[in-house]
Order: sequence, then C-alpha cells, then structure tokens
Amino acid sequence: MRIALCGGTGDIGEGLALRWAYDTDHEVLIGSRDPEKARTKAQEYETELDSRGVDRTVKGFANEMAADRADVVVLAVPPYYVRDTVEGFAGRLDGDTVLVSPAVGMQRDDAGLHYHPPSEGSVTAVAAAAAPDEVAVVGAFHNLSAGRLANLDVELDQDTLLVGDDEDAVDIVRMLAAEIEGLRPLYAGPVANAAEIESLTPLLINLAKYNDELHDAGVQFG
Ligand SMILES: NC(=O)c1ccc[n+]([C@@H]2O[C@H](COP(=O)([O-])OP(=O)(O)OC[C@H]3O[C@@H](n4cnc5c(N)ncnc54)[C@H](OP(=O)(O)O)[C@@H]3O)[C@@H](O)[C@H]2O)c1
Repeated sequence: MRIALCGGTGDIGEGLALRWAYDTDHEVLIGSRDPEKARTKAQEYETELDSRGVDRTVKGFANEMAADRADVVVLAVPPYYVRDTVEGFAGRLDGDTVLVSPAVGMQRDDAGLHYHPPSEGSVTAVAAAAAPDEVAVVGAFHNLSAGRLANLDVELDQDTLLVGDDEDAVDIVRMLAAEIEGLRPLYAGPVANAAEIESLTPLLINLAKYNDELHDAGVQFG
C-alpha cells in the first residue's frame, strides 16, 4: 500500500511515518504545504531509519501530490485545517482512497486541555463532510502519543480505536494499524461515535500533565 501523511512533517505524522516504515513494507509518502519541507523531513526520517539498519525510501511531496498518489491518506494536520486540507485535494481522490483522521479539537486553560468539538460533532465528521461522497473516512490514532510513536526504542503496547461507516475502509486501516508492532486496533462503531474517542485525548494529556509517570500515556482496554 501507499500511505500519504499530509502534514507528515509534524509530530504525529513523524511517529506514524517512522513506525510504518520501520515495521512494514508499505510505501510512505510525506506531505506538506511546502514540498521542499516535505523532502527535508522525509530525508530526516530515512536517516533515522538508516541509523537502525533499515534501508527505506521515504519521499516528500506537496500534500496534493502525496494524496493523489496514495491508497490511504492520513490527515495529520491541526483540527482547524482538516477541512481545507481535504478540500485542497478532494478532486484528486478516487473512490478507492481511504482518508484517515487522527485530529482532535481541544482548548487549553490553566487547568489543562478540554475537548472542543466542531459543530459537526467531531473532527472525523468534519473530514467525512469535506470528502467526496465516494471517499471513505476512518477516524484512528487519536489517542496515541506522537512522542511514543516516534521513539522506535519504545514498545507501544497500546490500543487505537477506529470509527468508520465503510467496512472495507475500516478493514484497511485496521490492517495498517495492526502491522505497527505493539498496536492493537479496536473498532468502536460508525463516525457518529468519533467524539467519544476524540474526547479521550485531552484526558490523556491532562493525566500526563499531573503525573510524571504517565508522560506519553495511551489507552489499553481489556
Ligand atoms: N501530537 C500528538 O501526540 C497527537 C496524537 C494524536 C492525534 N494528534 C492529532 O494529529 C493532528 C496533528 O498533530 P501534530 O501534533 O502532528 O500537529 P503539528 O505538529 O502541530 O502539525 C502537523 C502539521 O500540520 C501542518 N499544518 C500546520 N498548519 C497548517 C495549516 N494552516 N494548514 C494545513 N496544514 C497545516 C504542518 O505541516 P506543513 O507546514 O509541512 O504543511 C505541520 O507540520 C492534530 O489534529 C492532533 O489533534 C496529535
């Protein structure tokens, strides 16, 4: 599979890019608003993998080009820009492309972070509304710590919750998530259930703020 990480120059994009490149044979494309920045970051990721004896090619492109080439497109951008990012390449997506939304709307005050969903109910729903009708959207990876993902020395040992209305698309993302060592995907229902998953992320960040030992915390169910 060819996986594009739009905004793959940022934290969660880096973590997912490194894990997929390290643990799988899927092709990883880094997307950015600035193709030069994407190429520079892609080279950094290659260098990191090379230092661990893994010879992988990671390519960088403008977001639109990366999305155009990919089977699966992860929207690894801040929540407020998810709609514009999808609309920026919607015309280039075909019906087989799967969009993945890890984004979470949050607001910060002195106490910590608070869930702040958009009027659509969740950022996953925003992505679904912005995507062409024939393109399926799956919410995933919301509750993972980018720092933990990007540190390949650390065993993940975490769950990731998936939401999506299209069974085939959910199966594809479930397979890609399961191929990351130490990550267990769990299906949590249709996109209408995304807010419950997204709202766990500020809780995890608040736990990290008040408990040193929970830095980079995630979720595990059982
Ligand atoms: N960080 C985490 O631990 C974590 C965990 C789970 C989920 N998430 C979610 O994943 C998403 C990305 O988080 P992050 O921490 O990786 O964010 P980030 O590092 O702040 O940003 C990711 C990328 O978004 C792009 N970007 C910034 N402003 C943009 C704009 N106006 N329009 C389009 N793209 C823009 C940038 O790429 P270019 O400048 O290269 O275009 C940037 O590198 C967020 O929605 C967050 O809620 C994050």
